Amino acid sequence: MKIFVTGGAGFIGSNFLELFVPQHPEHEFVNVDKLTYAANLLNLSKVDGLPNYRLEQVDIADPVAVAALFERHTPDLVVHFAAESHVDRSILGPAEFVRTNIEGTFQLLEACRRHWQTRAGLFHHVSTDEVYGSLGAHGSFTEETRYDPSSPYSASKASSDHLVRAYARTYGLRTRITNCSNNYGPYQFPEKLIPLMILNCLEGKPLPVYGKGENIRDWLYVTDHCEAIWRVIEAGQDGQTYNVGGNNEVKNLDVVHLLCASVAQETNTPEAEYLGLIKFVQDRPGHDLRYAIDASKMRQELGWSPRETFDTGLRKTVRWYLQSADWVRQVRSGEYRKWLDRNYGARAGA
Ligand code: NAD
Ligand code: DAU
Repeated sequence: MKIFVTGGAGFIGSNFLELFVPQHPEHEFVNVDKLTYAANLLNLSKVDGLPNYRLEQVDIADPVAVAALFERHTPDLVVHFAAESHVDRSILGPAEFVRTNIEGTFQLLEACRRHWQTRAGLFHHVSTDEVYGSLGAHGSFTEETRYDPSSPYSASKASSDHLVRAYARTYGLRTRITNCSNNYGPYQFPEKLIPLMILNCLEGKPLPVYGKGENIRDWLYVTDHCEAIWRVIEAGQDGQTYNVGGNNEVKNLDVVHLLCASVAQETNTPEAEYLGLIKFVQDRPGHDLRYAIDASKMRQELGWSPRETFDTGLRKTVRWYLQSADWVRQVRSGEYRKWLDRNYGARAGA
């Protein structure tokens, strides 16, 4: 089988390739990635050079480039990760989110529709729980929860989910969608909460907590998400949506405390030194209060459940950032510095 993995040089896509390219020499994996700021070729060092892996640098929102790509290779399966993924960036500049997440998904769907007229491939769309909006104190998102996105990012992902469903209903395209909660683990760009806090601890920089740190996210270790996607590809049903989550709700401030404790333990530093860096800053506009996923469909129909607990996953993650000095140095030297100035320079204390 020929598999396109879009966005395979980003955080989740590269973990997906690292897990499944070596496990499946019978499949050919093509990483389709524009290589934006969020991509990193160092993420691919374990698959680069394997005979069943290749990279195609393509912008999915460019119809000419996508058409040419589909002329070079016709996939049997598209696993669609490519996206602009950071909520704060979508607030400061939504245009690229509309372009990549909506227009890019549309161009891929069109190419699949054209090329799969005689042989039916499968389009697996990787989406987010943020399409459902915010929960109050109780309840969790099921596959039937009404869409109610809050940020330009989540609205663009919601639009892409609707396009995928429309292509299934209108054109009979074989599609599946997974909506997943917050991931963490190796290769995550340090604009996201967990790696940002780890690296700021190590640099003795402030740990910026939005608002009062009371927002709740449902954290899932990245390889658990990748295995859930593979399970849906292997055994899921066409036209279906599957919610994927860790059953692991934690308040942001508690996440930061856990990270301070973990980094302190790994570096033999007094925890108080890191706790003293916590700084409450201006909240994110439209900040969703709480996300929680009901993953019973994944569990009952497909027998999937996460392998990692938050404790084991966080320890692995902290160790990975401590042991990956080259990766961290490379990320810090680039566009990252400008982003920190842009996002945090403007946020006064809360
Ligand atoms: P990421 O930002 O780390 O990586 C995105 C990748 O997409 C990068 O390699 C980038 O170069 C590529 N890309 C961006 N624009 C492109 C374009 N126009 N053409 C081709 N490639 C392009 O993102 P991530 O955190 O790995 O998320 C991957 C997917 O999973 C996204 O669709 C995201 O919405 C979804 N998701 C993420 C999380 C999470 O917690 N990170 C949770 C649920 C769902
Ligand atoms: O829920 C799934 C989503 O999780 C994915 O669809 C997104 O691609 C992914 O980025 C993530 O979105 P969040 O906005 O939840 O992740 P982020 O790491 O940016 O923030 C997590 C929480 O931490 C959120 O409530 C905002 C807060 N936060 C974040 C940053 C970067 C802070 O308090 N301080 C910070 O500096």
